[in-house]
Order: sequence, then structure tokens, then C-alpha cells
Amino acid sequence: MVVLSVENLKVRYRVGHGAFIHAVEDVSFKVDEGETVAIVGESGSGKSTTALAIPRLLPPSATIAGGRIIFKGKDIMALSKSALNKIRGKEIGFVFQEPVSYLNPLIKVGEQIAEVLILHDGLDKKDAKLRALKLLEQVKVSDPHRVFNNYPHQLSGGMAQRVNIAIAIALNPSLLIADEPTSNLDVTVQAQILNLILSLKKELGMAVILVTHDLGVVSGVADRVLVMYAGKLVEEAPVKNIFDSPLHPYTKLLLKAVGRQTEVDRDEIRGSMPNLVTPPPGCRFLSRCPMRMDHCSEEVPEISLERGVRVLCWLYGDRRGS
Ligand SMILES: Nc1ncnc2c1ncn2[C@@H]1O[C@H](COP(=O)(O)OP(=O)(O)O)[C@@H](O)[C@H]1O
Ligand code: SF4
Ligand SMILES: [Mg+2]
Repeated sequence: MVVLSVENLKVRYRVGHGAFIHAVEDVSFKVDEGETVAIVGESGSGKSTTALAIPRLLPPSATIAGGRIIFKGKDIMALSKSALNKIRGKEIGFVFQEPVSYLNPLIKVGEQIAEVLILHDGLDKKDAKLRALKLLEQVKVSDPHRVFNNYPHQLSGGMAQRVNIAIAIALNPSLLIADEPTSNLDVTVQAQILNLILSLKKELGMAVILVTHDLGVVSGVADRVLVMYAGKLVEEAPVKNIFDSPLHPYTKLLLKAVGRQTEVDRDEIRGSMPNLVTPPPGCRFLSRCPMRMDHCSEEVPEISLERGVRVLCWLYGDRRGS
């Protein structure tokens, strides 16, 4: 069953003088119950904008300029503020990149978890505390009582992220959106946090959207991968296809970058993204594409379906190379 369906999503940011950043253009995808979908692409490709649009958590400078977001049959764009708040708290959990900054520095972390349960599940203080301790156990915190009484600044990045995950899963959401949940953590902790998300997904039967700039982390984690570039969804494929037989020239480039450690290495491979205030008229990947053809600069590519893979490139589809 489909949990989430995003159709032709279009998001832009107001940047003054009547100008807009066209951050997300015509992005469509579905997420099935219990499925893990990764959104990958380098910084600035529109991953977070797409992820934040789903529970309508975009900043005020952003406008959803088109498209539909259907979550469990409900049109997210048509919901009242209170209906939306219910969904955000209860049905869609969110984990962000900066684990500490999403916690209130002045309140013990255990109380912050309990607060969610009191507000949304109507638990009394005592039951909420017991359940918060259980949740800390569930996210593999070795000493839940100590961590319950810690303030956020007393936690390591990995521990703070576990607390955020505990808050995100507290109400058994059907969808967990994790936006670069491991990007600011040490490599060994990154693997622990990813494994934790995966095991919770199985335990709770949630669907997961995992946003990451690092294609390397999605193998063995995601079922399906959405590759974004400059606001466009350029390829959507089962994870195996992405690694074994990538189609889009950008996906191929991203694969080359897997395992490269430094930013310099990565930049060498990647070049830079076009200006999204005045995006180029044809393919947004043109300036960096080794396969470009004459008409790629004139006509925006259309999505075509190749053996179950969706790809946005003139090398594929009925009009290939035309
Ligand atoms: N609050 C904002 N105001 C203006 N522009 C933004 C804002 N957030 C993101 N953008 C722009 O939107 C584009 C997509 O950004 P984002 O969704 O954050 O990409 P990603 O998560 O893939 O790095 C980028 O060009 C970025 O500069
Ligand atoms: S449409 Fe053309 S420029 Fe764009 S990715 Fe395909 S071949 Fe390259
Ligand atoms: Mg981001």
C-alpha cells in the first residue's frame, strides 16, 4: 500500500527583488508501506526542500508553487493547521542533521521525550516518564536513567541523535523522514545510527525516507533510490540498479565519487551546479555532462521508463537522441 505520493512537486524560495530560487521542479515519487527510499544528490540539489515539503515544514520564504502531496490518502496541502499538527506529531517522524540544535537546551532530554507523549498521547507524567525510558532503551541507550536526566549539551552527537530518534518514533509514525541524520557524526557512529534506524524500521513497520548526499551509505540500507540534481529528480531505481547499472550520467558521476574522502576529490569529479534563480533552458546537468548532445541545451528532458527505472535524460526513451 502506498503511504506517500508526491506528484509534480514544485517549490521555490523568495530571494528578494521578485527573484526566486527554483529549488524543486516537477518531482514525483511514491513511498510504500514499510519501504526505505533514499534521496541522494550533492548539496543544493533540493533534497531537504523535498523532505521538508512533505509535512509542510518549509521556512516562510518558501512557496509550494505546484503539485500534490498525498499522505495516507490525505491531501497535505488541503489540511487545516491543527490537522497538519496531528500528522506531524503522530504519523510522520522527522530526524534532522544537527541533532543537538533540535533539542531544547534548558530541558532534560527525558522530559522532552515525555512531553511529546503527554501532548499527543494524553499520558500522565508518570506513565510518560516510564514510556520515555522504554524509548531510550529502544534506541539502544545503555543507561536510560542517566540520559533521561541529562541536558542536551551533556550528550555526544551520536547520543543526541538517538534522543531525536526516540522523539521521532515516540508515537509510532508510519513514515520517518531522516534528513542527513549521520552527516555530522563520526564514521563509526554513523553506521550505528543507520543500523538503528533500519532495525527500528523493521520493528515498527515504518516507511523511511533517508536523505543523504553520500550515495555510499544507501547500499544495504535503501530499497529504492531517488537521485536529485539541481531541483530535478533525474533517476529513480531499485538500489541494485543504481549500483550495478546506473542510467543517468549524473548517477554515474555520483557513483565515481563514492569512497572519495575529501571535498577536493569530490569537487574535481563534480564541478558545480547551475544557478537556480535562472535555471538553464534545457537539461540542468548539461554543463557537466560528458554525454551531452546539441538539443540537450534547448529542450528540458522528459522522464522515460527503462526496464522499471525512471530516468530524466535525452539518452533514453522514445525520443532518444532526437
Ligand atoms: N531557506 C532558504 N532560502 C533560500 N534558498 C534556499 C533555502 N533553503 C534552501 N535554499 C536553496 O534551495 C536549493 C535546494 O536546497 P536544499 O533543498 O537545501 O538542497 P539539499 O538538501 O539537497 O542540499 C539550493 O539552491 C539552496 O540554496
Ligand atoms: S539530457 Fe543530455 S545533458 Fe542532460 S544528462 Fe542527458 S545527455 Fe546529459
Ligand atoms: Mg539538505
